[in-house]
Amino acid sequence: QAAPMPAQAGPGETEAVPAAELYTDGFAADPYPTFARLRDERPVCPVRSPRFDSYLISRYEDAKLALTDPRLSKDLYGPERHYLRIFGPNSAGLNKNMLNADPPEHTRLRRIVSQAFAPRRIEALRPRIARAVDDLLDKIVPRGEADLMADFAIPLPMTVICDLLGIPPADRDGVLDWTQVIRTSGSSRRSPEEERAAVQEVQLRLHHYLAELVQAKREQPADDLISALIEACDQSGRLSERELVTTTFLLLFAGHQTTADFLGNAVVALLTHPEQIDRLRADPALLPGAIEELLRFDGPLPVASPRIAAEDIEYQGVRIPRGSVVGVVLNAANHDPGYFAEPDRLDICRERGPHLGFGHGIHYCLGVSLARLEALLGLGALLRRLPGLRLAVPAAELRRLPPASPFRGLLELPIRF
Ligand code: HEM
Repeated sequence: QAAPMPAQAGPGETEAVPAAELYTDGFAADPYPTFARLRDERPVCPVRSPRFDSYLISRYEDAKLALTDPRLSKDLYGPERHYLRIFGPNSAGLNKNMLNADPPEHTRLRRIVSQAFAPRRIEALRPRIARAVDDLLDKIVPRGEADLMADFAIPLPMTVICDLLGIPPADRDGVLDWTQVIRTSGSSRRSPEEERAAVQEVQLRLHHYLAELVQAKREQPADDLISALIEACDQSGRLSERELVTTTFLLLFAGHQTTADFLGNAVVALLTHPEQIDRLRADPALLPGAIEELLRFDGPLPVASPRIAAEDIEYQGVRIPRGSVVGVVLNAANHDPGYFAEPDRLDICRERGPHLGFGHGIHYCLGVSLARLEALLGLGALLRRLPGLRLAVPAAELRRLPPASPFRGLLELPIRF
């Protein structure tokens, strides 16, 4: 059920939609009708929400432009301290990383991390990822049923990113519990205040844990990414202690959360489009293209991370005042019929691209090769080893992250095979 949209605002007017009207229960199950109405009626739509107001940009061409528009700043930690509005006052500073920085700071952080995150380090992970996939499937196959989120989609990228960073195996369950509190925030019966307090508490714990881990790697370096980040430098020098912690947090969180939600969304999309999964099974060489189409079709990050208008700007004739938070709705842009023919149809052989699921511009996903490799090996093995794979509950009854969550994903994915 698409949320009702107030009458279209005139040029330059900013009649806001209350967030509660947008993020209805129906939105969690299927946000695409709402995205279609946004694109058609309010392509630049001011949204009023209890936490912070924002402007949503939903058409493909506008989205692409906005993601490279230097007037849309990502510097949330500058003198105007936009992070206070967005993350709240007690967010432990973990988000003060490259994703929330502008050049030149962004350029420096990204350059140093890219060095350590070299393609050979990713390619070298291939056998390890394949083994992780097989280990997880070995446990699932004899059972005939599973929760694909808890048993596969979440632990796979978690194992991979922990291996890459060098997080000791004994610590991983604890780290996973913490990151899941952040991912599933808003889905429990707790009040919003209790939820916020719980997220703040795990952020503090994570901050403390990662700071100690960085210290331990400094004293005893190993062949892992954290040790490489400690050593990495450019002409401006090495990463500071704080930068090491916030970068590790970004890689840890971005490195498993999005991939986990993507794997879950991709499996649901394939299982609800039997002709597409049959085609893929008949010709596994179609998988790389299918992965891109699945990301376009139902990506795990519906809205890119917040941008701030650094001056008064105008998109589609709507004035966005300086200081406004701007959300680029990637999943709306990826279904724009002005760019993709029959956008609501899943077509694993679709040629038109690129989709915006990995973003665009200077913040384009740094982990794209790793994400693609995990999806290739993970989905490939699922199709091969679970030939009778099917949903154990109707797709409409799947439990999802709450409608206002920044992520699009499932709480559980019960399957049989
Ligand atoms: C940035 C999506 C997996 C690390 C981004 C952005 C998107 C994205 C849309 C840009 C956000 C923005 O501009 O606001 C995804 C998707 C993934 C995925 C859909 C999986 C299917 C990964 C993995 C890693 C990773 C596996 C690695 C460890 C990063 C980092 C950034 C980023 C570090 C920030 C880059 C910057 O600010 O320059 N990702 N990501 N991502 N991603 Fe990914």
